[in-house]
Amino acid sequence: TVETGGDAPATERSVRVPPGVTVFDSASWNGIAIDSTCGGHGTCHKCRVRIEGPSPVSRHDLRTFTREQLDDGWRLACLVQATRDLRVDVPPLTTRPKAATVGVGRQVILRPALQKRYVELDEPTLADQRTDLDRLLAAIDDLAPTPDLHVLRRLPRVLREADFKVTAVIVDETLVDVEPGDTTGRRHAIAFDLGTTTVVATLLDVTTGTPLAVASMLNRQQPFGGDVITRISATMLDPRALDRLRAAAGETLAELAAHVCDEAGVDPAEVHEVALAGNATMTALALGIDPEPLGVAPFVMSTPQPPAVLASDLGLSLHPRARAYLFPALGAYVGGDIVAGMLATGMDRDKRTRLFIDVGTNCEIVLSDGERILSTAAPAGPAFEGGAIRCGMRAADGAVEVVKLVPDGDEPVVLSVIGDAEPRGLCGSGLVDAVSELVRVGLLDASGRFVPEERAAEIAPALADRLTKIGEERVFVLFRPHPDSKTDECVVLSQRDVRELQFAKAAISTGWTLLLEELGLEHRDVQQVLLAGSFGSYLSPASAIRIGLVPKLPVLRIVSAGNVAGEGAKMALLSVRERAGARTLLEEVTYVELSDRTDFNDRFVEQLSF
Ligand code: FES
Repeated sequence: TVETGGDAPATERSVRVPPGVTVFDSASWNGIAIDSTCGGHGTCHKCRVRIEGPSPVSRHDLRTFTREQLDDGWRLACLVQATRDLRVDVPPLTTRPKAATVGVGRQVILRPALQKRYVELDEPTLADQRTDLDRLLAAIDDLAPTPDLHVLRRLPRVLREADFKVTAVIVDETLVDVEPGDTTGRRHAIAFDLGTTTVVATLLDVTTGTPLAVASMLNRQQPFGGDVITRISATMLDPRALDRLRAAAGETLAELAAHVCDEAGVDPAEVHEVALAGNATMTALALGIDPEPLGVAPFVMSTPQPPAVLASDLGLSLHPRARAYLFPALGAYVGGDIVAGMLATGMDRDKRTRLFIDVGTNCEIVLSDGERILSTAAPAGPAFEGGAIRCGMRAADGAVEVVKLVPDGDEPVVLSVIGDAEPRGLCGSGLVDAVSELVRVGLLDASGRFVPEERAAEIAPALADRLTKIGEERVFVLFRPHPDSKTDECVVLSQRDVRELQFAKAAISTGWTLLLEELGLEHRDVQQVLLAGSFGSYLSPASAIRIGLVPKLPVLRIVSAGNVAGEGAKMALLSVRERAGARTLLEEVTYVELSDRTDFNDRFVEQLSF
């Protein structure tokens, strides 16, 4: 329940977050603002929420709340982890923040590129015949904006209709509009994470940094193929495909923009800026730039920093002169989404040795030792998104997302299914869990092979009859709809699925192993692993460690980072300094090309086993 303060009624929202993420981060990633001045680090004691049902009490809670408040469920949101379904009451904000909490515990001082200034101008007289524009610019000379033609078209009428009391709207040093009266309390921008699969939009009040609405939907480019390579291929096969892909991206962004504006009751014409974080291919397609060179060796981008464009160039119908900021890219396969993610996680500011892994079809890896930052991309293939997996599916209702094997329990296979529906298939996190659990109980050996039947009957009799065959292929039955269902009607994990996952995880672990070697580091030197992206964030850290997707480290060092690309896009809208930081990252990060390394294949083979 979110209380908005004032007379507005409390609203109810349901959100889904990776297990183990704090209530504070869960709220902030989903556009729900909670009071804070420390950014979720447990020191400001402002992030007070009420949680229904029992939840642990930290020593900071004991210092902050009375016994009655603790009994009533009051806790500090940044110290409670969402490890089960929680019902949380969020009180209204008590202060107008000067900084906003964004990304993974980042405090951003609010300095948006979108500025508004209310001015009351002297009316012209015969003794003062300065032009309308000079009169306005003199009143805001500290901002020294360059006027846009749109302003000149509107200025004479707006000034006179509003008795020369107007608000100048400036985006990134350009005067984009002049509005009658004082509209300084209304400054809106939209942050987009333009993913290959899913696109997320957050409407922000940039005066306070408060997210007003969040929406997501599948990218309308899906019919052209599930990954960037198939979409690039589509443009190479059909000359009309580029225009269609561009239009599909525009429709996706426009639909989301309309949705968030509608939900927050904001007129789309009042949105003056957007920021967009996408991989290099998604950014090129959204702008209508031929992506072919990104898809063929030597994998070259048209430009690392797209030029300044208008939101309308992306197919958006917002304010007619709304600006669009696009994140720069490090390379064809480490794009603007990863630069935004680095910004959101402070990869260039933290002195710790940290590894950032965005798990997907193309897996981007960044390693920083506090001094140097390396990045690379590993082709993991479609396994994590359910592609090439016998019962694979996207993370949608009916997808098994958590698997637990309890060989001596009453229920030897415990599944958690998205939407609490009947299991229909396995999504990426379910796949990783299933394999990890089968390795743990010994039904899969270190080479990734199912053990012989006799051996299975010895080590896990309650599970042995689930190890069967479809045709010649061995499979493990995770869910049988009816006792008499045939095996090919069941949700199963096949031997080939295990191989697919082995190849995917070996590509990723080869990537970070080689980066660690470049910096002369060992596994144990890594102080934090950030699992990012819509898939990575939902992975069970314990399973990721067990199958070797991440270095063998204490589980608390593995952190779900959420949608960091979207968070980075928000930061770019809230702070021009952060935006400049994205640009600096291009100089600070060294890209390591894996495909031309002679030791890649040997390393890959070493990493295949569990
Ligand atoms: Fe400051 Fe929780 S956000 S204590």
